[in-house]
Amino acid sequence: MTSPVFAPFPMTRPRRLRAQPWTRSMVQEHEVTVNDLIWPVFICEGVDCEEPIAAMPGVSRLSVDRAVRAAENAANLGIPCMALFPNTPNDKRTEDAEEAWNPDNLVNKATRAIKAAVPDIGILLDVALDPYSATGHDGIVRGDEIVNDETLIALEKQALVQAESGCDILGPSDMMDGRIGYIRQALEANDFQNTMIMAYAAKYASAFYGPFREAVGASATLKGDKKTYQMNPGNTDEALKEIGMDLAEGADMIMVKPGMPYLDICCRAKDAYGAPTFAYQVSGEYSMLAGACNNDWLDRPRVIEEALTCFKRAGCDGILTYFAVEMAEIIADRT
Ligand code: PBG
Repeated sequence: MTSPVFAPFPMTRPRRLRAQPWTRSMVQEHEVTVNDLIWPVFICEGVDCEEPIAAMPGVSRLSVDRAVRAAENAANLGIPCMALFPNTPNDKRTEDAEEAWNPDNLVNKATRAIKAAVPDIGILLDVALDPYSATGHDGIVRGDEIVNDETLIALEKQALVQAESGCDILGPSDMMDGRIGYIRQALEANDFQNTMIMAYAAKYASAFYGPFREAVGASATLKGDKKTYQMNPGNTDEALKEIGMDLAEGADMIMVKPGMPYLDICCRAKDAYGAPTFAYQVSGEYSMLAGACNNDWLDRPRVIEEALTCFKRAGCDGILTYFAVEMAEIIADRT
């Protein structure tokens, strides 16, 4: 973009455009709409159950029937998509994470139930082994190594079972090399041409995932850290490489994760590729804001709206956020 030439002060007074609410909104460049929101929801066993998550005040795990009610509410608010994450019972977590491709595991059951009751809401499911593996890792562990190519075989099985259960968007979040192409080919070969892939393309080894691991019960199981597959927070060029590879392998959409501390990555990704770009405002970001709001240190609706608007400004087309329902209500109140 060429730099515009501005007349010097006093001919140019930027405050003129900010003087009244109607001019401020008339010249506003970016705005969050309900179409931009993807709502992550944690699923637990049981019937008519809600389990509060201590590290995420205000967020609970929902049993499948409650998740269906939640989906109805989200759809009524106009939220286009939900992302489901399971808290797998500990006795189903194994070395090789077989529960990940059980057609009746928690997320597949929840997907079928939601699709039956609320067909118009999209369902996004993670492709990664961490909620199912005894090690808490996203891949299969052999000795000290999270093995790449053997993990791809497991991810393919998981992806196909999820597609079969009616999942609209697969979100490979495992950061194994080559997984997007591998999964895309498997989908093509099995008549799932229309299943979308949102690649967790630039996913960093972040401390901001802490509360999520409590929510899916993986904090206790995780041995070591995820630095051999998730990215180093000090890198940006590497994010463009990861995103470029995932798009070349057949991703429909890409994601940057975490969100707000990584807005520079969102911006570079959108500029470089012009692909549908999403950010995940992760659990730690939620908990920081919710914790401060609960102490009356921040104004909750204002800080939610500002934080989510910043993602749009950075170039994101949408945001995965635990505030999705609250944001949708804020938007509904606006009109
Ligand atoms: C698992 C996964 C994680 C998140 C989404 N999928 C955690 C991790 O990689 O350890 C984090 C989401 C959040 O913190 O809200 N692959």
